[in-house]
Amino acid sequence: MTHVLLVGNGAREHAIAEAIARSEQAPRLFAFMKTDNPGIAALAAEVRIGRYDDPAPIIAFAKEAKVAFAVIGPEDPLSHGIVDALAAAGIPAVGPTQTLARLESSKSFTRNLLEKYGIPGNPRFRNFTDLEGIEAFLNELPGIVLKPDGLTGGKGVMVQGDHFQTRAEALDLCREILRSHPSVTVEEKLEGEEFSLQCLCDGRTVKATPPVQDHKRRFAGDRGPNTGGMGSYSGADHLLPFLDADAVAQGLAITEKVAAALLAETGQPYKGVLYGGFMITATGVKLIEYNARFGDPEAMNILPLLKTDFIALCRAIIDGTLDQLALTFEKKATVCKYCVPKGYGLPADHPDAASTSSRIEIGDVQGARLYYSSIDRKADGLYMTASRAMGVVGIADSLAEAERIAEGAIKAIGGPVDHRSDIGTEPLIQKRIDHMKRLKG
Ligand code: AMP
Ligand code: GLY
Repeated sequence: MTHVLLVGNGAREHAIAEAIARSEQAPRLFAFMKTDNPGIAALAAEVRIGRYDDPAPIIAFAKEAKVAFAVIGPEDPLSHGIVDALAAAGIPAVGPTQTLARLESSKSFTRNLLEKYGIPGNPRFRNFTDLEGIEAFLNELPGIVLKPDGLTGGKGVMVQGDHFQTRAEALDLCREILRSHPSVTVEEKLEGEEFSLQCLCDGRTVKATPPVQDHKRRFAGDRGPNTGGMGSYSGADHLLPFLDADAVAQGLAITEKVAAALLAETGQPYKGVLYGGFMITATGVKLIEYNARFGDPEAMNILPLLKTDFIALCRAIIDGTLDQLALTFEKKATVCKYCVPKGYGLPADHPDAASTSSRIEIGDVQGARLYYSSIDRKADGLYMTASRAMGVVGIADSLAEAERIAEGAIKAIGGPVDHRSDIGTEPLIQKRIDHMKRLKG
């Protein structure tokens, strides 16, 4: 029997745990978590609670449990070198080494890699370690995006029009960023529709999973602050209503070149998930960023559809035999919506902020899947914490039906909760289609 270690405690890892549990190889799951996720705990033979920034307790648990390999869910342990520490202990992993995880943790590393290896997809950009030349470059760009270097959880990026308006403000912000970060990437603001393409890589072969669209803004109509992601959808044809097969192929081609460039640059094969955050623009597919892991919520869209045995998939990634494995997904549409505390993403002095530690009741969710995220199980029930509480996923033949299932389920969750009722609905999807039509003229 295969013993597998899973590191991570969110809804993404709950979906991974479920994919592991579904394997025909009847694996035993050992879960190392920062907080006790009741959904993962229910699937695990044993659970250990600890921190992600110290590999030692994770290695000790992996050894005790005699795991054959590990699957790393979030970026935190990856950027702290958990895969290197596991390798030193003789335990292979699905997840990149610390050096390779810079693809996510350092925006400048990734932009420079694409440029050095002549890979298409970069917007105009420059990295600055001091203010020298910043003003002149800001003046060259029609629209500006500022990215502090280092892991910012997707919340450190500043976009003109959203976070600041003028070039003078951009310059002030650069000055501020450089006080607390080693460098800032200044880049051209792209216009288009974003999509997530989560690819699997064994170091040489890259295979794509169906594209997904996430919704980062807190409120309906794409208003309010950026969040970790309020929900996401994927199409039954493994495309998106505004995205054709050619655009998906462009995203995959960029990712294949990136995998080859990483090998050439570091001498290390990238084993794990290469999740490209792309934007389809009037002039083709551009790269916004790479993540070194599955997306959260996007993992909840694609893992439930995975027909290939997940343990076989992990082994192919580790052994470098992904070219010999057929990666297949059910031809179904999915809509994922996050149930969050009303106060999620709002300032601490907001009247709804206290909702973050309230109890929730889960009613009849009918055919929907539930994935726990920031949820505590106490003696008298389930309590939310400060972050996204649970992902609800509808799976059906059409997006409309998947949306209906997800919306019905999320409305069955009682408590001071909120969600985005517009995700996956026809009007919002039509808005995306119209946006792309307008841009392409
Ligand atoms: P990131 O942390 O790189 O995903 O950035 C967060 C968000 O900022 C992305 O999801 C985009 O919506 C936006 N963004 C980042 N880079 C650009 C860009 N070059 N042009 C337009 N929007 C961007
Ligand atoms: N859905 C955004 C992320 O996982 O980074």
